[in-house]
Amino acid sequence: MSRYAKRLVGDDSPYPSNAMSDPVLKTVGLRKNYRSGDTTLEVLRGLDFTVSAGESVSIRGESGSGKSTLLNLLAGLDRPDAGELWWGAEATHKLSLAELTARRGRFLGMVFQAYYLIPEIDACANVLMGARMVGSIGSVERDRATMLLKRVGLAERSHHLPSHLSGGERQRVAVARALMNHPPVLLADEPTGNLDERSGDEIVALLLEVCAEEKAALVLVTHNPAHAKKTSRQLFLKTGQLDHG
Ligand SMILES: Nc1ncnc2c1ncn2[C@@H]1O[C@H](COP(=O)(O)OP(=O)(O)OP(=O)(O)O)[C@@H](O)[C@H]1O
Ligand SMILES: [Mg+2]
Repeated sequence: MSRYAKRLVGDDSPYPSNAMSDPVLKTVGLRKNYRSGDTTLEVLRGLDFTVSAGESVSIRGESGSGKSTLLNLLAGLDRPDAGELWWGAEATHKLSLAELTARRGRFLGMVFQAYYLIPEIDACANVLMGARMVGSIGSVERDRATMLLKRVGLAERSHHLPSHLSGGERQRVAVARALMNHPPVLLADEPTGNLDERSGDEIVALLLEVCAEEKAALVLVTHNPAHAKKTSRQLFLKTGQLDHG
């Protein structure tokens, strides 16, 4: 059983004991429409998606196919028009927005194309923000932030402001921040979109390695076929559904 599932359901879980087969994230019939005046854009049309604990999955699809829409729904940053979203054993569609927000920080980490670091604080303080969102900061959190910065290759840069870091280094800080609270899921939306080819390759390799070490499942949205191929499962978003291409 995954750590997250165990925390939610205790030892009497209906899950099988094989950790890698536990669904850590699941959607059933997910629908999302955007309305503008008289027109309705059906972006997700009854999408079913299951991610097992610790696996890596890539999602490709044409621009405008709904990849970011899907990741925002999976993160509970937006709500579907219909369908179910499960975070481990928890039915998020039954939670209020406030309850969702309270749980998000421990359930998942996110990495975006644009990094979204806080410019006024240094790399270490940015990593600690992940923990600050869900509780107070003590020596355990400080040690973990230091460990994560070292792991992403930034031990010497931990007191640099984001503006004094390269794009690749900023994304490494964002990866460390996303993992701060030991989330069972990491969602990455085009994390290499602003990077040159070499930095992009390094970030994808890093994401795969650290997620494996941390036993976090990785959902990677990318336009890059070579990056997609590195994940254990490759999916395509087309006409509001996920398929194998
Ligand atoms: N808040 C919104 N209101 C209305 N339409 C939206 C909104 N957000 C996205 N859309 C539309 O929904 C569709 C899917 O957008 P989304 O950003 O999810 O695509 P994407 O697959 O992530 O594209 P890209 O590869 O360019 O990032 C697009 O047609 C977009 O214009
Ligand atoms: Mg997008």
